[in-house]
Amino acid sequence: TGARIGVYGLGTMGSALALNLAEHGFDVAVSNRETEWIAPFVAGAGALRDRLTGAETLADFVAALASPRTVLFMIPSGPPLDAMIDAILPLLSPGDTVIDGGNADFNDTRRRSETLERAGLHFVGLGVSGGAEGARHGPSMMFGGSGQSWAQVHPMLEAIAAKFDGDPCVAHLGPDGAGHFVKTVHNGIEYADMQIIAELYGLMRDGAGWPAPAIGAVFDRWATGPLDSFLVEAAAQVLRAADARTGLPMVDVIRDAAGQKGTGRWTLIEALKLGQSANTIEAAVGARAWSSETATREEAATLLAGGTQSAAALPEDTLQQAFLAARIIAHAQGFRILSAASVEYDWSLDLARIAEIWRAGCIIRSALLDTVAEAFRGDLPHDHLILAPAIRDRLAGSIGGLRQVVAHAAGAGCPVPCLGAALAWYDTMRQARGSANLIQGLRDYFGAHGFARTDDAGDHHGDW
Ligand code: 6PG
Repeated sequence: TGARIGVYGLGTMGSALALNLAEHGFDVAVSNRETEWIAPFVAGAGALRDRLTGAETLADFVAALASPRTVLFMIPSGPPLDAMIDAILPLLSPGDTVIDGGNADFNDTRRRSETLERAGLHFVGLGVSGGAEGARHGPSMMFGGSGQSWAQVHPMLEAIAAKFDGDPCVAHLGPDGAGHFVKTVHNGIEYADMQIIAELYGLMRDGAGWPAPAIGAVFDRWATGPLDSFLVEAAAQVLRAADARTGLPMVDVIRDAAGQKGTGRWTLIEALKLGQSANTIEAAVGARAWSSETATREEAATLLAGGTQSAAALPEDTLQQAFLAARIIAHAQGFRILSAASVEYDWSLDLARIAEIWRAGCIIRSALLDTVAEAFRGDLPHDHLILAPAIRDRLAGSIGGLRQVVAHAAGAGCPVPCLGAALAWYDTMRQARGSANLIQGLRDYFGAHGFARTDDAGDHHGDW
């Protein structure tokens, strides 16, 4: 007897997951550092109250759990989590499972897994996507941990997960940090997708001069075509909303300085360590950083020369194509990082399954991911998404739009760092003979670094 799972941390995500679990018939013990949150949370759970047991101390919390125990931490994944692990370890027994459902740096997850493994316990890094709404009614979850912990926990996760045509959006992706790594890359793609949306909004606002609600209507129309996705729907809603205080469109009174908690940056750091470069994600992280240099930008706006061509409106259809092409490219780059990590860490990541569990529940859920999943199940030359037949078809129909939008933006002086990055990468990847031969020549010229010849791979030097 006892609760099937304990949820520690009753913030937005923790309380939503606890209610989701209770609603699916699981008894849940709940606790929180600020103990005064616990009773009101349980009392406010309505009919689900009977499935919840509040515990004020860690000892009571652990004692309320059935063995082998499952503890889900929904707290910030930095030092607070390490402190909690230290505190709870002596109360747990071999065979118990500790889950971190926050956005953690997968390197920390690997370290924590090792520590717990030494004590005979299982540590799970669980990526949870979908925000508060997802956590309450169906998130997408990326599980990294031992087979035993998966066997212990998956019935609960499958019950509470979002469903795509009945298929639960949760999977055992690999050991230790695999789940958190995949969640990190999910967020990297999320950053790129949001940046693409923001750039297209900027073009319509500054180029075409459209008011926010009119731009919202464009996103609304896109929400049912090949761009069908949560973020496009969200953009439409955000752009159509009005500010109660001024009556202006809400977006017009929001400062243009973007926050970030770190997952986008981690994606880049890990990509670079793996010898990869996801320039669409880089552009998105960079654009957020630049956005906070408000004072500089305000001054530069009056001092630095801009574009020379008119920024008049581009056809909606052209913008839509540019969006689709850039979205495909950002996904291709994200999956390329996943496949490099899979090799490096020996995870055997199932990329098709990852695309499948991203089809519902998570922030980047989209019609495109269904195509991506199919592409990974089929013929994939060089393991690269952009070469899959279905993806190539979509690129063929959309890359022209991306080219037009980037050229137009360059002429008009409208910044499109992410769209531009996508096009630069695309053109680099389809160039059978690039220009790195000159880089090699220069390296040899000033540093005698040597090069391979087109007619002989060995290590050669030029007679400069
Ligand atoms: C999700 C989101 C979620 C959160 C991000 C926001 O998948 O549900 O990605 O994890 O909204 O952490 O990240 P930034 O604050 O860095 O934009």
